Amino acid sequence: MDKFKVILAERDIPKAWYNIQADLPFPLYPPINPATKKPLGKEDLAPIFPLALIEQEISLKRWIDVPGDVLQIYRIWRPTPLRRARRLEKFLKTKARIYYKDESVSPTGSHKANTAVAQAYYNKKEGVRRITTETGAGQWGSALSFACNIFGIKCRVYMVRVSYEQKPFRKSLMRVWGSEVIPSPSRLTKSGRAILKRNPNSYGSLGIAISEAVEDAAANNDTKYSLGSVLNHVILHQTIIGEEVKKQLKIAKDSPDYLVGCVGGGSNFAGFCFPFVKDKLKGKNIRMIAVEPTACPSLTRGSFHYDFGDAAQLTPLLKMFTLGHTFVPPPVHAGGLRYHGCASLVSLLHSKKIIEARAYHQLEVFKAAVIFAKTEGIVPAPEAAHAIKAVVDIAKNVRKPCCIVVNFSGHGYFDLSAYDNFLDKKLKNYAYPQSEIKKALKEISALEQ
Ligand SMILES: Cc1ncc(COP(=O)(O)O)c(C=O)c1O
Repeated sequence: MDKFKVILAERDIPKAWYNIQADLPFPLYPPINPATKKPLGKEDLAPIFPLALIEQEISLKRWIDVPGDVLQIYRIWRPTPLRRARRLEKFLKTKARIYYKDESVSPTGSHKANTAVAQAYYNKKEGVRRITTETGAGQWGSALSFACNIFGIKCRVYMVRVSYEQKPFRKSLMRVWGSEVIPSPSRLTKSGRAILKRNPNSYGSLGIAISEAVEDAAANNDTKYSLGSVLNHVILHQTIIGEEVKKQLKIAKDSPDYLVGCVGGGSNFAGFCFPFVKDKLKGKNIRMIAVEPTACPSLTRGSFHYDFGDAAQLTPLLKMFTLGHTFVPPPVHAGGLRYHGCASLVSLLHSKKIIEARAYHQLEVFKAAVIFAKTEGIVPAPEAAHAIKAVVDIAKNVRKPCCIVVNFSGHGYFDLSAYDNFLDKKLKNYAYPQSEIKKALKEISALEQ
């Protein structure tokens, strides 16, 4: 391909999401009700999720139609461009062809809008008037605020305190779209108060903020809870990314040898890769690489175990690679990657070695992000920068021509203070000590009996 980008027409937006559950050659471990120790029923989830999303969570149908109203909103920014990183290739003197799927062009700056719009739509359809959620870096909170505003739903976002302080403009963005933003842990919930009692200076974590948002939704009849990652229905909505990439690579007359994405809860990586997993299961040789921070290394150093999705043990037990729900990751700037676990679907594929994982320190990640910004122009979100770092490494080491495609999950224009810290040499690396990981994992060892 001699072009710099492949842009599809609006009519090419995929009309159905791809559900990998239909094609898994091995069963997915079911979520477990911690009280009964039995697989979860629909009724267990009904207090916090609308029925349509619960049905998508367990559906085995291969294709699920994107509702017309959701497609209409997707048309604001989708299809997103697939860009060839020609200037980066030249800088790296690589034989690799590097493409990036640019999810940063959504109104909120990341892939999170793909599921936010779908979730707000189904909630509205079932008469939900208020939604609560958590947010790490603020990308998810912004996306849900944008979507709730479109559908006229009130939204309260529990924002991990460290990001609330590090990224004040994400908070402003959520408020512009009409949401209420609360730093977490807060005094508004029992879970928040319990954490603050143990540690009044807690900088929070996604696990803690999830507890607060779930507790709030369960306590209010007009309110449901919405999660921006991890769950099957979230991943389903994100497959719109990989499906578009398939069409775009066909136009570019190329085919991937490597697919690379960063992993927090797993939704952008899964949405990007899962449409290709189908081909890999049929024998196509594609390496799929999930990239995480060394500060929160669930796939590379965690244990494949049933665990709670939140700190206060309010969620069902999920079988996943986890560092333990009490694990509070250090305050790295990639706030969206500070989650103790990883989606069950991604975890299962990792356990079967269909996907692979690697972890990087934040200093090397920011160095790669700056190279990307200098060559390609766009400043990556610190989360997306993890994937970029892996691409740089792969591209530098390949000996023959190959095709690397990376999901550029979001831009970093609200993360510029992190870049300032990096440029001023104020950032440091964190690797979580094995002893701390062992301690948090010990607490979940009884959950599987
Ligand atoms: C830009 C960006 N990329 C990636 C992630 C990680 O989330 P997930 O693994 O669900 O894609 C986040 C989370 O906030 C994010 O904001």
